[in-house]
Amino acid sequence: MSSPTANAAPHAVPTTQAPQSRGQPNVSNAGPDRIVIFDTTLRDGEQSPGASMNLEQKLQVARALRDLGVDVIEAGFAAASPGDLEAIQGVSREVEGPVICSLSRCSKGDIAASWEALQDAPRRRCHVFLATSPIHRDFKLKMAKEEIIRRAVEGVRMARERFEDVEFSAEDSARTELDFLVEVVERAIEAGATTVNIPDTVGYALPSTYADTIRHLRKHVRGIERAVISVHCHNDLGLAVANSLAGVMEGARQVECTINGIGERAGNASLEEIVMACKTRQDVLKLRHGVKTERLYPTSRLVTQVTGLHVQRNKAIVGQNAFAHEAGIHQHGMLTHRETYEIMRPEEVGFARSQLVLGKHSGRHALKERLVALGYQLPDAAVDKVFADFKVLADKKKDIYDADLEALVVHGQILGKGTVAWELDALSTTSGTGTLPVASVALKNAAGEKLQAVASGDGPVDAVFKAIEQVTGFTVKLRDYQIASVSTGEDAQGEVSIEVEHATGVYRGRALSTDIIEGSARAFLDVVNRIALKVAPKDEGARAELGSP
Ligand code: KIV
Ligand code: ZN
Repeated sequence: MSSPTANAAPHAVPTTQAPQSRGQPNVSNAGPDRIVIFDTTLRDGEQSPGASMNLEQKLQVARALRDLGVDVIEAGFAAASPGDLEAIQGVSREVEGPVICSLSRCSKGDIAASWEALQDAPRRRCHVFLATSPIHRDFKLKMAKEEIIRRAVEGVRMARERFEDVEFSAEDSARTELDFLVEVVERAIEAGATTVNIPDTVGYALPSTYADTIRHLRKHVRGIERAVISVHCHNDLGLAVANSLAGVMEGARQVECTINGIGERAGNASLEEIVMACKTRQDVLKLRHGVKTERLYPTSRLVTQVTGLHVQRNKAIVGQNAFAHEAGIHQHGMLTHRETYEIMRPEEVGFARSQLVLGKHSGRHALKERLVALGYQLPDAAVDKVFADFKVLADKKKDIYDADLEALVVHGQILGKGTVAWELDALSTTSGTGTLPVASVALKNAAGEKLQAVASGDGPVDAVFKAIEQVTGFTVKLRDYQIASVSTGEDAQGEVSIEVEHATGVYRGRALSTDIIEGSARAFLDVVNRIALKVAPKDEGARAELGSP
């Protein structure tokens, strides 16, 4: 790989609605060594099975991303569903600072939807994409190379009619013939693309092959200096971060990534790993970014809470064990000189050594401060509700940990209920040795009607699930069921997490309760409500037609 700055042109980083000055980076503090952090947690990340978020949850994540200091927030795919459009609109209205971006196919309708969604964003970007690899051309699009070029150019031109800032992605670039990729990228820049993204859509590349691709484009695409080259890597071989870094070492200046690396299949490149690699190995990479690294851990926790996608304990940077030292020899080394076994300080990523935060006598102000530190910026009424729930919990539980507070926010439906199709009204079960477990469940639908069912099952929880299926008409296959204590101590609250398979996809649900049967019923209802949201008739057609980018 060549040195990072030796041939790094000052690529354009368009961000404002002022006439685009191509060739000029316009992130704050721009320069040839400044990389643009493009976060796609709300778009590609949300495509993780079961990771769907409601509007308020997306707004919370977007605010946290702004506070983290990302340059671009891809808030969704406006044409995918009315819910996506509404979320992009909400983020555009509320979140000032980063460029807000919407994904579009190279079609008039998609670009119009992105325009509608981004109307109120002070800084906006339209991101158009079209697949270029032979396998996508032949089997998905059934288009010849000429047609691909024609559509890509048309898509970029249509987008440029409305937007100053247009990104073009050649989907599945990593499996596209290099000479064809050069042609597509060149034509996209000619048509007005200000950023050209080179996705490794299926995570097929190796660091050396991905670096070769970026180097080749920089060498052979005429006009490449007028656009920012962007990297977008998936993690199917566990190489998304390595490939992204290989790309920036060859002069790419935008990295597309997600918090906790969430995304379809094995996920996307993880934002926290990219920025900490740049910070910790500044000696080699010599790259700057605008991320406030001490916000990484709270942002990671927030995304975990709202998506229900847990981070593995040994995950780099944000896993529970990332800064734990068990072995005696390590502990001894650490006490003598911490850098013997620690290349980053936990404080640099906002990792709190102590999770004990509040007690019975803590006031509203302390609670609010702690919520903000955890990444939750809530309106006063919501803080009042969390504070009231906190006081009830503090009466039952001596020590209140960060995890308890997060649970109060997430389970207290502070982040918006979304469209709740069904609510639990009443529940009773009978079970025991030698008796058939039976559950009686009464639910209320959105119209306030009460419906009831009685079912038997393999155990009381199974019986509850069957009764809920009868009332709601949704049939699912249970894939995972777990109960975990939210924090520590005998008085810890229990969180039930379940994962199910439904004809429309995989869904996760969670609920908190001191009663595990009630918690199970509520977690199952959480799933049912997510399914009801997804299969709402208005969304169904659009999603099916789009396929997944
Ligand atoms: O992985 C991919 O190719 C994408 C594009 C739509 C950018 O997500
Ligand atoms: Zn992707």
